[in-house]
Amino acid sequence: MPILYNGSTREFHLQTEKTSYIFSVMENGQLGQLYYGKKLRHRESFERLFHVEATPNTACTTEGDLVFSLDLVKQEYPAYGTTDFREPAYQVLQEGGSRITDFVYQDHRIFGGKEKLEGLPATYAENDGEATTLEITLYDQEIDVEVRLSYTVFEELDAISRSARFINYGEADVNLTRALSVSIDLPDANFEMVQLSGAWARERHIKNRRLVPGLQSIASTRGTSSAQQNPFLALKRPETTEHQGEVYGASLVYSGNFLAQVEVDHYDTARLMIGINPFDFNWLLKNGESFQTPEAVLVYSDAGLNGMSQTYHRLYRTRLARGKWRDRERPVLINNWEATYFDFNEQKIFELAQSSKELGVELFVLDDGWFGKRDADTSSLGDWFEDKRKLPNGITQLAKAITGLGMEFGLWFEPEMVSKASDLYNAHPDWVIHVPNRRMSHGRNQLVLDFSRQEVVDYIYGLMAKVLRDAPISYVKWDMNRYMTEVGSLGHPADRQREVAHRYILGVYSLYERLTSEFPHVLFESCAGGGSRFDPGLLHYAPQGWTSDDTDAVERLKIQYGTSLVYPVSSMGAHVSAVPNHQVGRVTSLETRANVAYFGAFGYELDVTMMTDEEKEQVKEQIRFYKENRSLIQQGQFYRIENPFAEDGNRTSWLVVSDDQSEALLGYYQVLSTPNPGLSRVFFKGLNPEFEYTIEGLDATFYGDELMGAGLQLNRYRLNEHPADFSSVVYKVKRV
Ligand code: DGJ
Repeated sequence: MPILYNGSTREFHLQTEKTSYIFSVMENGQLGQLYYGKKLRHRESFERLFHVEATPNTACTTEGDLVFSLDLVKQEYPAYGTTDFREPAYQVLQEGGSRITDFVYQDHRIFGGKEKLEGLPATYAENDGEATTLEITLYDQEIDVEVRLSYTVFEELDAISRSARFINYGEADVNLTRALSVSIDLPDANFEMVQLSGAWARERHIKNRRLVPGLQSIASTRGTSSAQQNPFLALKRPETTEHQGEVYGASLVYSGNFLAQVEVDHYDTARLMIGINPFDFNWLLKNGESFQTPEAVLVYSDAGLNGMSQTYHRLYRTRLARGKWRDRERPVLINNWEATYFDFNEQKIFELAQSSKELGVELFVLDDGWFGKRDADTSSLGDWFEDKRKLPNGITQLAKAITGLGMEFGLWFEPEMVSKASDLYNAHPDWVIHVPNRRMSHGRNQLVLDFSRQEVVDYIYGLMAKVLRDAPISYVKWDMNRYMTEVGSLGHPADRQREVAHRYILGVYSLYERLTSEFPHVLFESCAGGGSRFDPGLLHYAPQGWTSDDTDAVERLKIQYGTSLVYPVSSMGAHVSAVPNHQVGRVTSLETRANVAYFGAFGYELDVTMMTDEEKEQVKEQIRFYKENRSLIQQGQFYRIENPFAEDGNRTSWLVVSDDQSEALLGYYQVLSTPNPGLSRVFFKGLNPEFEYTIEGLDATFYGDELMGAGLQLNRYRLNEHPADFSSVVYKVKRV
């Protein structure tokens, strides 16, 4: 049983395959944390893990008792104001102005499986045997409010998800001014905090910092999870590497404003929290109303960062992503954006499709510019009707013509946005996120539609559903190209204005839910000006996301390496684009561009009609190679080997290995060529030491132990006979 309860000591022991999570009901009725980490053998009681002693200069909860102080104890879902001086997991503002609460254990239930989170994306179990859930009810009698803490143990998948739900049974209104999803108190602070930070075109770069006393945090206030910070944080031991050592990961299944923080207190304990950003947040709970926090997914690994990543990959690929495309091989696509931008017509699109079909491409994606009068990014968002000037026969006919070639057809939308120059804005100027009598800032000349309002979501649903019903469309790229400002909605009263950012995201999720249910055959790819909303929330609906607008092969090494900390290879859209690269101007070989893009949901984004015959032959071979290996790439275990963020980040390598260890694919990349270099080796991971393997292109066989222990010897120039910048090689390894 993965969840054990001892009624006499009121202890809960949650066990996954390799981890234990233990807590109990404390003498004050609140929940105290006892342990989270490597799996412990179950015993009758872990009482001794709970330890309080009198400490000087603090406050104690009970008169006459100088020992029990929340200042010292580890807690499950801590509050502020009753002897704990650290930042709390939640805060409830009451009618009289009080923020003091006392949520004590009331009861709990343990059941097989996992219940849905209302309106929110979450991990799931396909049957009751796959996961076990503990739901604990805490109750504050004074205000008649309940908090239900949910813990789902994915025993085999080795992860625990947590969330909280507040229910107000009281007559009086309360306001949630803070409601994070998870809090964990770790007994020491000897950790480095690992975060994924960046900006447009350089998303999810790995940053490490040593914990110091006080608060350290990352957050988004942009209305989306953002390119600047990703809703994820890990705490690793200073000595932890990719493949060894302890690490705790916390990942939030959410796409809006979030906060992830660690507070190191005066006793050097570390409190890790993640959830909706409390800044500019408030949720009014009237009698009978409830509030559900997003879910946070916790992973502990003692097999290094890569061990943690593999757990996230498997869970997110198989029990967060959903639908027909979850387990299917993703089509090789071509997207016309960088080939044409807004400047295309039916004939040009058809020619691109035709030429790419000849090369083996399976899906043609028509990007921005097909609707309204969109010749530039200044108009037409919201008018999801084809532009007859560019497409005189309409989207349906174009889609039919392209599918007639034996390809699939996909289409770009930016559902959440509106241009001032649009029919939609003219008809409904009040349907945008804004504050009356204040300037409306714009981003890329566009305004954000008020998805916190049902009628707005319904309207956009109607337009999109019509296009998807009428035309043979099997892929949708859902873009979102600006952050939110002047956050306010005419759809909600004054005391609910701080709910708008969260209600907006709920609106986005509800539209995804409707469209994915009604069009289950459609593969959705999320996008937000590249990877500005690449998060677990959207992965639930869209099993792949556009990783970054930066398609330069060298830049992509960092972006894909960083993204892989949490997200599976199958979720990362990766395209070969033209050179000089449109984002950084760099010229890399067609071979290296493909060698990087292979480790993702592969495609092209350039004008294939402009290619030489030689290049076309090369592309044909690349597509053949990808198709041959895509189930391995998309479903295999991913191992990071050499780190582009290392001090000498000149080399990157990574590897995917099939579950049965019979096949692997190694990607090895060198940014700059070095003069007169020495010999170097690459060390494989995850192979079976006993198996004998061949490596395509090398005339030899190797045992797994040799490739992992002694490594594969590369020639002096590593990859080429002659020195060259931006060189790379992909090796296919096969069991003999
Ligand atoms: C931003 C996306 O990231 C690009 O791929 C492209 O779809 C453009 N938007 C279109 O406006």
